[in-house]
Amino acid sequence: MDVDLVVVGSGFFGLTVAERVATLHGRKVLVIDRRPHIGGNAYSEVEPTTGIEVHRYGAHLFHTSNERVWEYVNRFTAFTSYVHRVFTTHRGEVFGMPINLGTINQFFRSAHGPAAARALVREQAAELGGARPQNLDEQGVSLIGRPLYEAFIRGYTAKQWQTDPRDLPASIISRLPVRYTYDNRYFNDTHEGLPVDGYTAWLERMADHPNIEVRLGTDFFDESQPVSKGDVVGNVPVVYTGPVDRYFDHAEGDLSWRTLDFDQQVLDVGDFQGTSVMNYADEDVPFTRILEFRHFHPERDYPDDRTVVTREYSRFAEHGDEPYYPISTATDRERLLAYRDLAARERDVLFGGRLGTYRYLDMHMAIGSALSMVDNKLAPHFDGGAPLR
Ligand code: FDA
Repeated sequence: MDVDLVVVGSGFFGLTVAERVATLHGRKVLVIDRRPHIGGNAYSEVEPTTGIEVHRYGAHLFHTSNERVWEYVNRFTAFTSYVHRVFTTHRGEVFGMPINLGTINQFFRSAHGPAAARALVREQAAELGGARPQNLDEQGVSLIGRPLYEAFIRGYTAKQWQTDPRDLPASIISRLPVRYTYDNRYFNDTHEGLPVDGYTAWLERMADHPNIEVRLGTDFFDESQPVSKGDVVGNVPVVYTGPVDRYFDHAEGDLSWRTLDFDQQVLDVGDFQGTSVMNYADEDVPFTRILEFRHFHPERDYPDDRTVVTREYSRFAEHGDEPYYPISTATDRERLLAYRDLAARERDVLFGGRLGTYRYLDMHMAIGSALSMVDNKLAPHFDGGAPLR
């Protein structure tokens, strides 16, 4: 095989590795992906009847405080000035999220300043008298008090996990942000925005290099095609960004994930909800949120009589479902350690990205971690020094 590196997966992790190795080291990289499109979960496409850009695998908002990542991504795309804000509907009323002074004063019908609001939440959070929370419900109460927890967190979390929070471990939530200002920006990062020409244009520019070949519809484990695990491993170095348990034939058991079902509709109205993301906090509404994609790009010339909305439903993933969020039970963590041992023994194969490491990674984290892998493992290898591993 006439390539210097095979990258399995064309998401942000795989493309960052491929682009750096091709550009900095002048090496030939073959990127394969089993999906029919590039870009992993950040892929977006144009809904054909409206021209509106839709994020096929859930809303993707770019944000980072990592200056190296920000400089790197700006080589491939400019960003709009979009600032993400999320609202939530609870019992027929709309509140700002994350919980901030505006949310608190609207909810308690009060006019507290920061100090009074802080004192109120502290008093309500003391309900358990310092006892160690035994489950997620108690954890929520001990972090922000019962009224705010039950209104904004409990039902949403129950829907995300399809489990009563009293039966979920406290460890799922370590903190619940409350802002004692009226700042309702969703992210705290230095940089934020959406790619001006969309995600797919950005991802395609990363792959657009004479040393990079991308083969779509190519599963690494399909031995009937020429770039399969059996042919490649041991012959050419590999960066693998698929599920780590799949690589080892689930030898240590399955790692568990939550998945999402998306119900997309084109509606004959110019604006359905007036904002991009509306959460639904109450348990009697079956979906967790509604996305309205036109609001991600107010600068674009979208039709004023039609819009695209997607309702999002959360559940445990089964075989064949898209893995979205690692669940990380105690059993998962044990299995992950066993897979890490196996991975460490696999010669010239590096595991990365959200599936390869079984970690939730934001896009900037996936890109940052790919840049580190190039620095620490791939650059020395291609410069004639030792590491790949
Ligand atoms: P990614 O999953 O993107 O790519 C892996 C690729 O490997 C896939 O294309 C897959 O097809 C391929 N593959 C797997 N097995 C294979 C095999 N056997 N053979 C060939 N190819 C194989 N982040 C953020 O910064 N802001 C946000 O708003 C969001 N929003 C968001 C919403 C939802 C619902 C999710 C699940 C995730 C987010 N993210 C996010 C996170 C973002 O999606 C994530 O950072 C990137 O997808 C990570 O890129 P990777 O390359 O690691 O994986």
